[in-house]
Amino acid sequence: MAEKFNRATFTRSFLRHITRIKAPDEMLAEAKEQGLEKSLGVWDLIILGVGAIIGSGIFAVVGIAAAGSVDGSSAGAGPALVISMIIAAIACIFSALCYSEFATMIPVAGGAYTYTFATLGEFAAWMVGWVLMLEYAIGFIAVACAWSNHFIQLLSGFEKVLPPWLAHPPVWLTNDVFSVGKMLADNPSLDVPRFLGIPVCINLPAILIVLLITAILVKGTKDSAKMAGIMVVIKMAVIALFIIGGAFFVTPDNWHPFAPNGISGIWSAAFLIFFAYIGFDALATAAEECKNPQKDLPIGIIGSLLITTVVYVLVALVLTGMQNTSGPVPLEFLKAPMAYCMTKTGQSWAVYASYFISIGSLAGLTSVLLVLEMAATRILFAMSRDHFISKKFQKIDPKFKTPALLTWTVGILAVIGILTLNLDVAAELCNYGTFTSFIIVCVAVLILRHTDPERPRPFKVPFSPVTPALGIICCGGLMVYKSMQAGSSALLFPVWLGVGAIIYLLYGFIKNRDNENKIHKELVSGQKD
Ligand code: ALA
Repeated sequence: MAEKFNRATFTRSFLRHITRIKAPDEMLAEAKEQGLEKSLGVWDLIILGVGAIIGSGIFAVVGIAAAGSVDGSSAGAGPALVISMIIAAIACIFSALCYSEFATMIPVAGGAYTYTFATLGEFAAWMVGWVLMLEYAIGFIAVACAWSNHFIQLLSGFEKVLPPWLAHPPVWLTNDVFSVGKMLADNPSLDVPRFLGIPVCINLPAILIVLLITAILVKGTKDSAKMAGIMVVIKMAVIALFIIGGAFFVTPDNWHPFAPNGISGIWSAAFLIFFAYIGFDALATAAEECKNPQKDLPIGIIGSLLITTVVYVLVALVLTGMQNTSGPVPLEFLKAPMAYCMTKTGQSWAVYASYFISIGSLAGLTSVLLVLEMAATRILFAMSRDHFISKKFQKIDPKFKTPALLTWTVGILAVIGILTLNLDVAAELCNYGTFTSFIIVCVAVLILRHTDPERPRPFKVPFSPVTPALGIICCGGLMVYKSMQAGSSALLFPVWLGVGAIIYLLYGFIKNRDNENKIHKELVSGQKD
């Protein structure tokens, strides 16, 4: 006879399932059994960290952070950009310390997703994994399109030597459909092919760089770290050139007034420039591939964040010393501030320096792309191990020892994203994903300190619970600040969460129960034998 439905029992059982915690020891055992190759040392980690962090934030966003946006939606900090840089760095350092505690305690693939599974349970873990896709996968798409813009800008600088079709390619071959839509609104006679009346737009440079990065990642983590290393050397050389060369052209008068838009300009810029620090957390997702995670990961995470902060502060000082940011600035300064300031010096060598800076920004964006895609695949790898997505993605390529099918799937999905997404919204959603994951990691540190105090912690967050609490306050404050300002993306974030919850109920929840039943049956039949 069918059992009578009992709502209270059903609810209790449902809640028990969705809050099921995966013990850290179980994670460590699984990682040992089916893990990825351990190839990363401390320098690889620092290079990956700096590679992941320094990108379009310092090469482009910094101009708007200093001088404000053209539409007036964001006030500039002026020379006080230095303070904004430090505020954003402080917000990140609290979370970085929490990431370090977890990464050394549970050094397995998955980062914040894994830590949530160990503390808040199955449903929260899935949701964090889903939100992290905003940071890494959607961020990957947004940075690929920024890469395309910088590439086109570089090509146009060589118009004297390149054929015209290459120096100035058609807009529909280098932009997404939404950007071309805006261009068509300004200039309806623009030559764009159409299909059923809809403009056909293929951002070819963005697609090609995504496919290239995917192929490099499939070839191997160590090779990817080497490639990131080359890119990091180029971008650091370019930034050093700017700081040292630019210092001779600083006019101290440009530093007055120090904060032309007061506190609100400083906060607006701190929020914007926060994007420039995103990426250090991606190191935690590669914990399983570290040779000595307990010692190397905290050095990698905190070291790369500190190096970046020093570099950013120096760039901010030189930049605001070379260009007066208290009033209106040229558009070129907002798009590519460092290259513009170099050209402005009027020196004969400055034009070459600005080319070198454009190449450096491309290198910077390339290394950011490498680490963002790597982080997205490592999280999905951990999620597939936990039955949230198909087990097929667990397959490791026998030759390259990387999750090849999963990496190509992420690459192809990114190409689809490039063809279909509105990138302004995508970039904002990326920020929401990052804030949420930082907050969750701070919360998770507090919970695990309480529920599992005896677990060895090779690295401990100093002054806990104050430090994690400050991390929650800083990131939560920035998120609330943004929500009060934003339009569409503020509404889209809950939509993204809702879609995630539905997918969990229709797939992850069912698969996990199937797996539990399977284990139960195996145990029972083992007892009978
Ligand atoms: N921090 C990275 C950048 O600035 C995302 O491009």
